[in-house]
Amino acid sequence: MIAEPESQASSRVVRVPGDKSISHRSLICAALASGRSRVRHILRSADVQSTAGVLRALGAGVPTLGDDVRVDGCGLRRLVAPRVSLDCGNSGTTARLMAGVLSAHPFASRLEGDESLSRRPMGRVARPLEAMGARFAFEGGQHLPLTITGGDLQPLTWESPTASAQVKSAILLAGLVSGVPVRVTEPVRSRDHTERMLAALGVEIRSCGGEASLEPVGELPPFQIDVPGDPSSAAFPAALAAAGGIRGAGSIELTDVALNPTRLGFFRVLRGMGADITWEVEREECGEPVGTIHVTAASLSAATVSEELVPAMIDELPMLACLATRANGETVITGASELRVKESDRIAAVVANLRAIGAEADELPDGLRVRGGEMPLRGRVRAQGDHRLAMAFGVLGALPGNAIEVDDPTCVAVSYPAFWADLERLTT
Ligand code: S3P
Repeated sequence: MIAEPESQASSRVVRVPGDKSISHRSLICAALASGRSRVRHILRSADVQSTAGVLRALGAGVPTLGDDVRVDGCGLRRLVAPRVSLDCGNSGTTARLMAGVLSAHPFASRLEGDESLSRRPMGRVARPLEAMGARFAFEGGQHLPLTITGGDLQPLTWESPTASAQVKSAILLAGLVSGVPVRVTEPVRSRDHTERMLAALGVEIRSCGGEASLEPVGELPPFQIDVPGDPSSAAFPAALAAAGGIRGAGSIELTDVALNPTRLGFFRVLRGMGADITWEVEREECGEPVGTIHVTAASLSAATVSEELVPAMIDELPMLACLATRANGETVITGASELRVKESDRIAAVVANLRAIGAEADELPDGLRVRGGEMPLRGRVRAQGDHRLAMAFGVLGALPGNAIEVDDPTCVAVSYPAFWADLERLTT
């Protein structure tokens, strides 16, 4: 939640909701732990509710999500066969991470999801998990719905062709639950929350560059975590502040944000665009650095983003593309074909929507090009049910001179349910 403005009018203080990736992992690890864990400030959004629902259907003691929840774990390999299909909703993280967990359990489970999730690729997790010994039965294409039959798994060394934390985490969790060593390499290091959380719980994890490996443990201890704010959610108020959109204040302080280096790409690129932005680490939580980000309005210039920068800002690229319309020069994003298999085809959708409001933008096979200017941007955009598109265009529409209507504002419930209320508070 965003807090009330500070007494001095020049700065606003904001606490964004809990990190989505860490929230999913907190619930999954707590369900696999032997005993009762405590999770504070978990993100209460639709995606995390999907993980909670799936874990409940598998016998874990996950209560209604509140600000301070106690989860009764079953222990490693002690989840029970579900009586119903496991509904992953819109959440790729639920589907892929749970595919790893379920591959190591000796029963069959059917995973399903909404229309968007049912279009997203699942072969990328099926291939390594099948190589470990799990069986995947798809009902059509390499998508949900699918049925996983798990069992005793083999050790695995896997070279992932894509930088994907979901694939990496699925393999690490399969190794953890089945008690076999695993090693994953990826072309560029993806977010490392699974590695950090498991290491904080005493699991022997080695992580270096694009490689992560795990050694088996007998059990996972219960734990406590205070989930830090989500840098992907913080990117929206940060962009708003950088482009001068905060009413009555030149700057913003984003407190208690996860400052994991594998998530800070957007803030680094924003700094390169001329934004006045700094951050400092204040504490550590379950292996995650946590602290404050400060952003002050400045004039922005275009950015160039290529493949090696993409994983650390993959979810922030729609916001960057929108912000690029307010920066001097041409912003070029390449090496980002993963954007085509997110909650929507974010390359096609961002470009179509930018054009619909009068901005100059072009699709590239693996990215996009946006020319900045000062022309007011006006019109209606189609979020395609994609939360990050709705929020990126919401911020762009809130900048001085612009007037943008988002067709489906409710889809922000997936990751940041209070987004519109918070945006309103910052801009009026
Ligand atoms: C996530 C990993 C990323 C990211 C997603 C969350 C995670 O997906 O886009 O929002 O929590 O592991 P990929 O693993 O597909 O890159």
